[in-house]
Amino acid sequence: MKQLKVAILGATGLVGQHYIKLLARHPWFKIATLTGKESIGKKYVEAVRGEAPDPPKEIAEMEVVPTEPKYVDADFVFSCLPTEAAREVEPSFAKSGFPVVSDASAHRMDEDVPLIIPEVNPGHLKLVELQRKRRGWDGFIVTTPNCTTVGLALTLYPLHKTYNIKKAVVTTMQAVSGAGYPGVPSLSIMGNVIPYISGEEKKVEIETLKILGNLENSIVKPASLEIETTCTRVPTIDGHLESLHIETERPINVDEAKSVLAEFASVPQELNLPTAPRRPIIVREEQDRPQPRIDADAGTVPGMSVTVGRVRQGKRPTTLNLLLLSHNLIRGAAGVAILTAELAHHYGMLR
Ligand SMILES: NC(=O)c1ccc[n+]([C@@H]2O[C@H](COP(=O)([O-])OP(=O)(O)OC[C@H]3O[C@@H](n4cnc5c(N)ncnc54)[C@H](OP(=O)(O)O)[C@@H]3O)[C@@H](O)[C@H]2O)c1
Repeated sequence: MKQLKVAILGATGLVGQHYIKLLARHPWFKIATLTGKESIGKKYVEAVRGEAPDPPKEIAEMEVVPTEPKYVDADFVFSCLPTEAAREVEPSFAKSGFPVVSDASAHRMDEDVPLIIPEVNPGHLKLVELQRKRRGWDGFIVTTPNCTTVGLALTLYPLHKTYNIKKAVVTTMQAVSGAGYPGVPSLSIMGNVIPYISGEEKKVEIETLKILGNLENSIVKPASLEIETTCTRVPTIDGHLESLHIETERPINVDEAKSVLAEFASVPQELNLPTAPRRPIIVREEQDRPQPRIDADAGTVPGMSVTVGRVRQGKRPTTLNLLLLSHNLIRGAAGVAILTAELAHHYGMLR
């Protein structure tokens, strides 16, 4: 199969580095262009931020170009730009004919923009038809959720289908890499927990409802469960841990709930997409799992599986408690976007 050429917008950041790692031997996609802002004109290896491992030689020598359509030679683009930059830049790429698959929050809640977790709502990709018609674009924008939303919505989905969740209460313990590089100052986070992340709780709540919602007459009708979220930043490096309590309509049998999670598979697994893990959710039985340091890279595609543990009955037959962990930069960003692009390519949406 002829490989599609891809550009990474914002390639020098933490998410950008994970695209480079995940696309290194990708069977369908080949990196053709890397863009940035401060690093324009530098070789990628000189520009890359943080403690990045050495990139492959052909990537290391590539020059970082401005983030404008005229500098980009690609069949489609991944965007891992900061929100403010993405707000203007992503529509300019879509208008110029590029399909854009974005990790940024700027357009996630636009009515005609799909917000995708390929295992949960692959059918929402159809919104692209409305988007193109409304905006008169040859290209389009497809978004992926906030890194905290991904693990939560992926875990809620099979449970919601089985037990009809009425309410979910979640408290997050989010790794520092979730804030990009250099992120939270070390003196603020070392030996500490910060009990607030600006804007995060609302994002997690509204995005989850959009993802779990139904597409009816070209509009996503948000799911009707209630979600209450508390987001905290903790001194771990990668992997967001979340403590989840759910209240359901149907009574829950704990062993059955574990099977529902562990056996969950969906369209990406059926299609055997290159970045699809065999099991999107891994259930651990040990009382002290999941742990970010041990489990963040779980799965047959490392970092693409959510690890769930301490699954236990609540005080009532219709309540359940558990902890979940997902790699914020892989399942929560670059990996979910690559899987989304693979699905879009399977549906013939990428030029
Ligand atoms: N970190 C996570 O876990 C995570 C998870 C999900 C989604 N996201 C989202 O993904 C995006 C990137 O996150 P990150 O953690 O990789 O951030 P980051 O480490 O701060 O990297 C930002 C990147 O964007 C480029 N950039 C900054 N301003 C720009 C501008 N005005 N025009 C063009 N390029 C610009 C930078 O290039 P230069 O170096 O050349 O300036 C750099 O490559 C954000 O929208 C974030 O919210 C992050």
